[in-house]
Amino acid sequence: DKMITFVFLPLLGIHSTAAVTHSLKYFYTGSSNVQKFPEFVAVGLVDDVQIIYYDNNTKRCEPKQDWMKNITEDGYWKRQTQGLIRTQQIFKDDIETAKSRFNQTGGVHIFQRMYGCEWDDETEEVTGYDQCGYDGEDFVSLNIKTNTWIAPKQQAVITTYKWNNDRGLMKSQKNYLTQICAGWLKKYVDYGRSSLVRTDLPSVSFLQKSSSSPVSCHATGFYPNRAEMFWRKDGEEVHDGVVKGEILPNNDGTFQMSVDIDLSYVAPEERNKYECVFQLSGVNDIIHRLEKTRIRSNESNENMWIILVAAAALVLLVLNCVIGVFLYKKKSKR
Ligand SMILES: *[C@@H]1O[C@H](CO)[C@@H](O)[C@H](O)[C@H]1NC(C)=O
Ligand SMILES: *[C@@H]1O[C@H](CO)[C@@H](O)[C@H](O)[C@H]1NC(C)=O
Ligand SMILES: *[C@@H]1O[C@H](CO)[C@@H](O)[C@H](O)[C@H]1NC(C)=O
Repeated sequence: DKMITFVFLPLLGIHSTAAVTHSLKYFYTGSSNVQKFPEFVAVGLVDDVQIIYYDNNTKRCEPKQDWMKNITEDGYWKRQTQGLIRTQQIFKDDIETAKSRFNQTGGVHIFQRMYGCEWDDETEEVTGYDQCGYDGEDFVSLNIKTNTWIAPKQQAVITTYKWNNDRGLMKSQKNYLTQICAGWLKKYVDYGRSSLVRTDLPSVSFLQKSSSSPVSCHATGFYPNRAEMFWRKDGEEVHDGVVKGEILPNNDGTFQMSVDIDLSYVAPEERNKYECVFQLSGVNDIIHRLEKTRIRSNESNENMWIILVAAAALVLLVLNCVIGVFLYKKKSKR
């Protein structure tokens, strides 16, 4: 128990952040034969904070943030719901189409679409994107510059012919991605300003499974997710033996991340020269020097580790099972 040290962070000067890029993202996932997973799920995110949820069971588009409930104009929720009911049907057809293109008759399959836009509130620059994936691989994606669909997969070429020759579709899609999307994004940012344009500092702790495992510097509870974390020694960033994790969403609208370092080749007396640095835009760096007494270890407190791992796994399940395939896709894309 003595090994556990909760780290209380001093409140460092918080400055309001200057120019920022805001984003609006939609993820649609259609699946067939995936046990205990709805056959159609839609989520929308503003600045990586979830704003809406819809699935084939509820057949209702629901707000995921309190401030979203304030959007009531022109039957907003009814229209979103109706649109998603139509999309759900289209996804059912899309999965069947994709299956036939790959000569598949049954089995587990997933069709996904990811689209949205980013808006730089200083330069006013807007960039849109739209792409589909099938069974975890790119299927078709829109080249926004030329406004044409391209197919990384032979089986999707027919789809690109069809869409590229549908002038009405190409026009309305371009209009959405370059104009309408950014319009909504600005509206959402306005409604959610007090919650979206805030700064939450994380609590940072050192975790280690056993005395020979890598030491993990774990930061949780921060907002926004434009954060960096790294290990430093003698004022310089360390890369050797360092594994950076992804920034993951917590269920309460904050984020967590961790960066691991393997110190097994470092002499014990050298280890306290290492520091974990957490950087969040507009806030002074949060620096923690590695001290043995600060490390929460599995050996001294098994439960804490299990709780943390379980919490991380839950977060992964809740959101990442919807978007994970896309993150993987984006990473593996050259
Ligand atoms: C939604 O999809 C799941 C998985 O396919 C299915 O079990 C469930 O019955 C569907 N819900 C409705 C209301 O159709
Ligand atoms: C919703 O709007 C009301 C009236 O403008 C405002 O007082 C309230 O704070 C808003 N709620 C949220 C969660 O932003
Ligand atoms: C599907 O079957 C057709 C006809 O047998 C064949 O020409 C085609 O190459 C097959 N496609 C795939 C992806 O196996």
